[in-house]
Amino acid sequence: MAKENVFNTSGFELKKIVMPLLDWYAVNRRILPWRENTDPYRVWVSEIMLQQTRVDTVIPYYCRFLDRLPDIQSLAEVPEEELLKLWEGLGYYSRVRNMQKAARVIVETCGGVFPREYEKILALPGIGQYTAGAVSSIAFEQPIPAVDGNVMRVLSRITESGADIADPAVRKQMTAVLAEIYPVDRCGDFTQSLMELGAIVCLPNGAPLCAECPLQGLCRAFRDGKQQDYPVQTRKPARKKECKTVLLLRRGEEIAVRRRQEGRLLGGLWEFPCLDGKKTQQELLCWLEQAGLEAERLERAGTVRHVFTHVEWQMEAFFAPCSSTGEGLCWVTPEQLDGQIALPTAFKKCRKFFR
Ligand code: ADE
Ligand code: SF4
Repeated sequence: MAKENVFNTSGFELKKIVMPLLDWYAVNRRILPWRENTDPYRVWVSEIMLQQTRVDTVIPYYCRFLDRLPDIQSLAEVPEEELLKLWEGLGYYSRVRNMQKAARVIVETCGGVFPREYEKILALPGIGQYTAGAVSSIAFEQPIPAVDGNVMRVLSRITESGADIADPAVRKQMTAVLAEIYPVDRCGDFTQSLMELGAIVCLPNGAPLCAECPLQGLCRAFRDGKQQDYPVQTRKPARKKECKTVLLLRRGEEIAVRRRQEGRLLGGLWEFPCLDGKKTQQELLCWLEQAGLEAERLERAGTVRHVFTHVEWQMEAFFAPCSSTGEGLCWVTPEQLDGQIALPTAFKKCRKFFR
């Protein structure tokens, strides 16, 4: 099929999906902690967490986060180290750092009250069109769509649109078309019904549960048996592979960590000293010496693979018991490492070699 860069409904009367979706959602919505009420802070936190992470994973993080940081004020004030610890394992740490920035902006410029105006919401750090639409519609009943991959998949299938959903222009057009049909007073439910259908019925990877779908009678892809052909999406470039060498340095009970350089992947977060590329033992001994570390020996600990969005790390870890503290390192006890230091998952996977 030809890939297109324009979404239009080609005569499909989109308004017809509203009532079936709302009725279906009223009965079939999952009970989720962020659906207990529509406090904008709670909606915001959930949408940020859910951006790159599955619902099942998010639930315990969300509950813990809301327990410790129940409002904007507490998020604005929490020490960064504690904040990162609450996020540890969720990945994409810039998400939570931006949330704290936004919370501080709200405290400083809006008296700590989440702004209602779409443009003000959109202007906050870390909030894009999707999140601004979700908060506006779910928390404030504004007729503003939140179009994510789930929603684009549903729209592509029901209209048999060949528009490339990787194209930001297509997302914009879908947003505009949806904005026309938002039901007054049911804006939040409509946003969530679209997401929910994509999440539990109109599933990706060729497995939609059309038999359970409230839109079956309207859906062109179902009519033509062409569910597998939609949505159309240009393939992302293959993930780059990078080798890393990780040093597990121990001095008595203590373990060495340091902060990663800002501006790189996982910038500013903690790591076990990690060098670019695959290093020979000779090169590692050289590095240790330059860092002012006297290592008693060097021993291969194991290998670890970690997949990020755009890159995959192949990490080889080495133990080195040391008798000096060296430069630029922070020595912590195992208890501090586990209880206070937010270690990104890539390095958590190396943590196990210490046991
Ligand atoms: N995915 C993105 N937003 C969601 C929400 N509010 N509920 C369930 N899944 C989601
Ligand atoms: Fe998706 Fe099937 Fe429903 Fe069409 S009928 S919207 S393909 S689940």
